[in-house]
Amino acid sequence: MNISIVGTGYVGLVTGSCLAERGHSVTCIDVRPEVVAEINAGRPTIHEIGLDELLGTLRRNGTLVATTDTHGAIHSSEATLICVGTPTVDGRMDISQIVAAAETIGEALSSKSEYHVVAVKSTVLPGTTEGPVKEAIERRSGKKAGDGWGLCMNPEFLREGRAVEDFRSPDRVVVGATDKKTADDFLKVYADFSCPKLVTTLRTAEMIKYVSNSLLATLISFSNEIGNLCSDIPGLDAREVWKGVHLDRRLTPVDSQQRGPARVTEYIWHGLGFGGSCFPKDVSAIRTFGRTIGAKTRVLDAVLDINEEQPRRMVALLEKEMSLSGKRVAVLGLAFKPSTDDLRESPALPLIAELLKKNVATLVAHDPVAMPHARTRPEFANVCFAKHWKEALQDCDACCVVTSWPEYVAITPGEFAKLMRNPLVVDGRGMFDPVQFASAGVTWRGIGYTPEVFQARPHCSLLFEDRNRQESQDECMVKKSSPDRNIEAMIVRDQDGTIRYWSKEAELMYGWTHQEVLGARTHHLLGTQFPAPLAAIEKAARKEKTWQGQLIHKRRDGALVTVQSHWKIQHNPKNRSLTVIEINVEKAA
Ligand SMILES: NC(=O)c1ccc[n+]([C@@H]2O[C@H](COP(=O)([O-])OP(=O)(O)OC[C@H]3O[C@@H](n4cnc5c(N)ncnc54)[C@H](O)[C@@H]3O)[C@@H](O)[C@H]2O)c1
Repeated sequence: MNISIVGTGYVGLVTGSCLAERGHSVTCIDVRPEVVAEINAGRPTIHEIGLDELLGTLRRNGTLVATTDTHGAIHSSEATLICVGTPTVDGRMDISQIVAAAETIGEALSSKSEYHVVAVKSTVLPGTTEGPVKEAIERRSGKKAGDGWGLCMNPEFLREGRAVEDFRSPDRVVVGATDKKTADDFLKVYADFSCPKLVTTLRTAEMIKYVSNSLLATLISFSNEIGNLCSDIPGLDAREVWKGVHLDRRLTPVDSQQRGPARVTEYIWHGLGFGGSCFPKDVSAIRTFGRTIGAKTRVLDAVLDINEEQPRRMVALLEKEMSLSGKRVAVLGLAFKPSTDDLRESPALPLIAELLKKNVATLVAHDPVAMPHARTRPEFANVCFAKHWKEALQDCDACCVVTSWPEYVAITPGEFAKLMRNPLVVDGRGMFDPVQFASAGVTWRGIGYTPEVFQARPHCSLLFEDRNRQESQDECMVKKSSPDRNIEAMIVRDQDGTIRYWSKEAELMYGWTHQEVLGARTHHLLGTQFPAPLAAIEKAARKEKTWQGQLIHKRRDGALVTVQSHWKIQHNPKNRSLTVIEINVEKAA
């Protein structure tokens, strides 16, 4: 079959390439001559796994060609798929591209005598195909739908990053059509695909796409709400919660051979929220559409609200650890998900805007494929780009991991510790193991988790060391671990006499962080009540003596935990610090 595709972006190029692979002769049309030139040169203008090789093959065997000539392409094809953009502007779908495309198609059809099928593949609100699209084609062609041409709606469900794979083996093909003949004619496009094919009305086909995207977006926002809730409940790690939830046999189907999670479980996981060209715009468009017809969209409202909030949570996690002003912060991952270069609505954009508002000294970003796009966008005007993630991490005070690119997942805690000035990692995708990070001396923070998930060890002996203490007393006091020892805790007497205490153990067990110590001038340091006056501890320390006694830790939930401690403390007159050299916790009750 001869097929023309109007609009050669993510959907158009993948659709055209995969249909040509199935033996159709495809002409891809685009208004941008540079896109046409690249495609004719065999170079995809987007990043999709497998597309490079596929397009190269198709160009060599001549089954796919690109052009700016819509008129010629319509005349030499039997079916046209409209794949132009339908962006959302102020929450409303902008149909200008689709109406312009329909008008051009109509003009071409006015002088065509053979029957032609036009299908809208772009995502459009219910009523758009049989409304503005049909009207534009009829107006410009002078022919009513059904009179020499037919109209279909064929939503696309491909996932960016896996678009070629998805198109090659789709879950389903949905075709909305004005009548059966038109549907049958159009289904020849998919004759070679063996998936279920659902024929429906135009409006139902349009609505199926919005409901699919809204359902998946709802799962993500639901998961984020649960993740956020877990962040506020001491002792929980949302990742463990999801593991248990995913094992429900309705989510992890059991068959005779093996048990594996259904793909939908990918969406039941907390993180930075959804982005990309579809979920945010489609949920927003259907919500606004619902409102304009007087319908309530309470769930969709919440889905969008939660999503908007997630990147700010990442910044809040950082700020809990340190003031960001004047710091060097790395952002790993700009694309809204791995395997794509698409930056549209990526959570990296609001995250970067928020970080810049905090007056960071340097914001250095890295992404394996999205940086060329990022360099052209105004949001990145004040961002430095690193050639490699190692360069991005070098001498950083904090790192935000936004996209779970495999090369980032493979970064070891030791590499973070070695490269960063202050190894503080905020993991936006819940992809690292906090226990491993803690033992490498890296402070790991993430959504959906509180440090209390680590159980108190009844008997433990910890080594302490004062290293890399920062100039500024407003900063956290313990920076890096030495290769052979982990810095676990410290007492510092500040210039103004404030005594500060921090311990990894307290942080892991109770979520007490350095910041909670700042400004503390009483015995209630970091939630710890010192039954002995601090002066006694200091006195003991000056003589390099050990101190022992009971410490009553006041937990965040108000509960008191008594710990019998033996401390070996050293006084360092040079920087006026007290360093706990060794601590033995005998009993945690
Ligand atoms: N990107 C996805 O993952 C995805 C998945 C499913 C559905 N969709 C939907 O598919 C549609 C296209 O999305 P996209 O991401 O491919 O958009 P895109 O912006 O990447 O591509 C659209 C292309 O259409 C071209 N164009 C615009 N007007 C034209 C005209 N009159 N004639 C010829 N070319 C024209 C543009 O130059 C551009 O190259 C949207 O409605 C989107 O919601 C997208």
